[in-house]
Amino acid sequence: MIEVKNLHKSFKTKTGAVHAVRGVSFEAQDGEITGLLGPNGAGKTTTLRMLYTLMAPDSGNVSVDGLDILKDATAVRRRLGVLPDARGVYKRLTARENIAYFGRLHGLDEATIATRTTQLAQTLGIDFLDRRTEGFSQGQRTKTAIARALIHDPKNVILDEPTNGLDVMTTRGLRGFLQHLRAEGRCVIFSSHIMQEVAALCDRIVVVAGGEVKAIGTPDELRRQTGEEDLENVFVRLTGLDRLDGEAA
Ligand SMILES: Nc1ncnc2c1ncn2[C@@H]1O[C@H](COP(=O)(O)OP(=O)(O)OP(=O)(O)O)[C@@H](O)[C@H]1O
Ligand SMILES: [Mg+2]
Repeated sequence: MIEVKNLHKSFKTKTGAVHAVRGVSFEAQDGEITGLLGPNGAGKTTTLRMLYTLMAPDSGNVSVDGLDILKDATAVRRRLGVLPDARGVYKRLTARENIAYFGRLHGLDEATIATRTTQLAQTLGIDFLDRRTEGFSQGQRTKTAIARALIHDPKNVILDEPTNGLDVMTTRGLRGFLQHLRAEGRCVIFSSHIMQEVAALCDRIVVVAGGEVKAIGTPDELRRQTGEEDLENVFVRLTGLDRLDGEAA
């Protein structure tokens, strides 16, 4: 379970400070898929980076299975499987070596790494385990990075736009895979800017825009809240993009 309380994060830039995350709070339960939904620049990646201890918040706190991300960073990392937005696979290594490297960092023995790699490759449809990742397509890199994120069998899984660049069949496969993680009682959080995708998969949707949480609920709750039936309209209403629409017109 991941609890996020009142997170703030600003960046200094040459043209002034960017207040990327402005008081984000939500809870992601075990055995549920929580979607972080928002347009480009909403603060999704920045929020997730703080959740997986890459970046310290300016204020606010996050706990993972009751452990504080700042005080217990090492224990937290052990409980997290992370697909970062920059997939970052090492191009000189094969997919298998990339996965195994992370397994070793997590202290797994070689037999466990081998068994888990075979399982993950099967579920994710990785038939290129022994190719060097240099030259991999976007989807191949993403699949490798997802397998690597899950090698240590983490209780909590954080995926930043996992379906970016994936084709229809791979997206379907990934959807099934996330449902499988949920059925195992894991806590799954993923980000997306596509309402339909989030609605198809998530038990709870956290809508963010401009660094703030605009709404939290099931797809039906969000429909009722906005009085819109069509999911795209729900998204546009909740993120305030309808106002931009109006200005442009
Ligand atoms: N390291 C940084 N330095 C300066 N500004 C940053 C930095 N990281 C993020 N930002 C800014 O913070 C805001 C939120 O960015 P973030 O990457 O979190 O958005 P996002 O919701 O993940 O968007 P996308 O859907 O495009 O991935 C943006 O205005 C971005 O330019
Ligand atoms: Mg992002």
